[in-house]
Amino acid sequence: SQRKQVDEALAPFKLTKDQLCEVKKRMRTELEHGLKKETHHTASVKMLPTYVYGTPDGTERGKFLALDLGGTNFRVLLVKIRSGLRRSVRMYNKIYAIPLWIMQGTGEELFDHIVQCISDFLDYMGMKGAQLPLGFTFSFPCRQAGIDKGTLVGWTKGFKATDCEGEDVVDLLREAIKRRNEFDLDIVAVVNDTVGTMMTCGYEDPKCEIGLIAGTGSNVCYMEEMRNIELMEGDEGRMCINTEWGAFGDNGCIDDLRTQFDREVDEGSLNPGKQRYEKMTSGMYLGEIVRQILIHLTKQGLLFRGQVSERLKTRGIFETKFLSQIESDGLALLQVRGILQQLGLDSTCDDSIIVKEVCGVISRRAAQLCGAGLAAIVDKIRENRNLDCLEVTVGVDGTLYKLHPHFSRVLQETVKEQAPTCGVTFMLSEDGSGKGAALITAVARRFHSNRQ
Ligand code: BG6
Ligand code: GLC
Repeated sequence: SQRKQVDEALAPFKLTKDQLCEVKKRMRTELEHGLKKETHHTASVKMLPTYVYGTPDGTERGKFLALDLGGTNFRVLLVKIRSGLRRSVRMYNKIYAIPLWIMQGTGEELFDHIVQCISDFLDYMGMKGAQLPLGFTFSFPCRQAGIDKGTLVGWTKGFKATDCEGEDVVDLLREAIKRRNEFDLDIVAVVNDTVGTMMTCGYEDPKCEIGLIAGTGSNVCYMEEMRNIELMEGDEGRMCINTEWGAFGDNGCIDDLRTQFDREVDEGSLNPGKQRYEKMTSGMYLGEIVRQILIHLTKQGLLFRGQVSERLKTRGIFETKFLSQIESDGLALLQVRGILQQLGLDSTCDDSIIVKEVCGVISRRAAQLCGAGLAAIVDKIRENRNLDCLEVTVGVDGTLYKLHPHFSRVLQETVKEQAPTCGVTFMLSEDGSGKGAALITAVARRFHSNRQ
């Protein structure tokens, strides 16, 4: 029967508690391997040191420019931070588009475009001559040799500009500023969005020692003990580690959980074989998984009168915001049909029931996988500190977390189930990661000037 066939297609996406526990265990193994000298080459999770040694303490101050590149929006920001009793942060920002041809053009074009946007922003703020320190939120994996150095390991998500991989992105930005020859900026810090988010939330809550992004991509950073980071000198204190957990499974360690649909999404992506966990958990790919399942069900004659339309064959039609709308509680089926209509898909009432069910199963698995991963992180921090229970705050950002009607709840339930001895509070970042990048820049510049 129809019901049975739909159930069959969706069954591999429904994870049991034991399977999630297994995901947590494997994530833990990869986290450990990524930190160790002997095993970090083969670990799928890169565990990149960030040179951020602590969360904000309120003494940060000054006026900064920040860039925020790699999420849905590219922003340029001016951030003014006051310390002491009148502690406050004021921000001004402008969003700029990055056209697809620039995201996937040459590195020179990409960085020239970024500098062009900075120039426009300085004009707009009436600050052309200003020589401000700049914090660069760059939301891609970078191997850092200092707070102001970051070699791009590889593009992820929708970016694929040439001649950037293996290069220091701070140098690329400096060179583009020189090429334009219009203003001077002191690039003080390069920051992953997870780290920026942790710092933004850490400014309000000192218990915030984890940063999570559930958006276009998926990633986590957290405060790790220096003694456990074998690739860094020194055993005292802590450093924030950018896990780049989106690559979890790139060595095959979660292939038993991946379905034929996950493999199809991977093969159709800009980076086949890479970011396997990200492709099961983040906004850029969930709609694609849904689309692959809908094609499969249509071919079986279970949907859309058995007709695979050109529209359904089109990559990227189901953005996060559509999944979020379709899954909203209390939405009448007629409204689901309306949403599908907007996407260019003609549906019957029965079709809309199935589409909604598929979306629900895929977003639930995403939230559960993400929760199992996060459970591995909080349990590791708890064990690092020899505690029976740990109270910790996770700073979170990303459109999937913010817009989706169920993702955040399922994520939290899964963390509770998989790490029962940790009290985990989720704090939404309202200010993006640019604020955090400015706070990091403030600290980095102070260290720098103290040393001189
Ligand atoms: C924004 C942050 O709020 O969220 C960015 O400022 C981050 O740094 C982004 O990359 C992540 O969410 P999304 O959904 O835009 O990828
Ligand atoms: C991708 C990037 C990572 C970033 C995440 C969220 O996984 O590789 O650096 O933090 O997306 O934007």
